[in-house]
Amino acid sequence: MLEIDIIAVVPGLLEGPFSHSILQRAAEKNLIRVRVIDLRQYGTGSYKQIDDYAFGGGAGMVLMAPPLADAIRDLQKENTYDEIIYLTPDGKTLNQSMANHLSLKSKLLLICGHYKGIDERIRERFVTMEISIGDYVLSGGELAAAVLVDAIGRLIPGVLNDETSALMDSFQDNLLAPPVYTRPSEWEGMKVPDVLLSGHDAKIEEWRYQQSLDRTQARRPDLLKDEDSA
Ligand code: 6GU
Repeated sequence: MLEIDIIAVVPGLLEGPFSHSILQRAAEKNLIRVRVIDLRQYGTGSYKQIDDYAFGGGAGMVLMAPPLADAIRDLQKENTYDEIIYLTPDGKTLNQSMANHLSLKSKLLLICGHYKGIDERIRERFVTMEISIGDYVLSGGELAAAVLVDAIGRLIPGVLNDETSALMDSFQDNLLAPPVYTRPSEWEGMKVPDVLLSGHDAKIEEWRYQQSLDRTQARRPDLLKDEDSA
């Protein structure tokens, strides 16, 4: 059982992904449990304030340390986290190797930033990992958290119907996946490669591997050099 708690500023952004995807089935099978905590409930004063202007000036608000610290400490009373992960564009870019590693943990806490980010002291005091999902800026960490949870969740044995299928994914061995086809075998004059209809398993395997190599060479030659990304 992998338990993931997520501190969010806009919890509603996380409702859809977790109630419609394969993660729903994983939750029903008790393979994963995702809990979303609304940071606002830890806000200060009658307005439940969670953000303030940046010291030194500049546009944009910063999530304040006290509400975040209260939320984290409240959760830590009942949970010991393997990692406390802050989703941020200046974190380490998520790859399959990181997803594999995190899928083996039992408790994770994800913190979603917003606006200009979170007070740096929270990062220093609590955060053990910082993850980005790519080189572009989202308006908050929630969608990044959803991506991370999906990438991790599908790796847990039993989550996917065919348990081997996650192992066959693009990236799992630093190669992109080969092309796939289904019926009809001929469509608008376009035929499925003969080898796939041959029933010859070894030849099919060899063809797929060669396609994977060619595709990776053509589209993502960086993966063939990068030892660390799978
Ligand atoms: Cl983790 N957060 C935000 N706000 N933007 C991102 C990101 C995360 N990863 C890529 N862009």
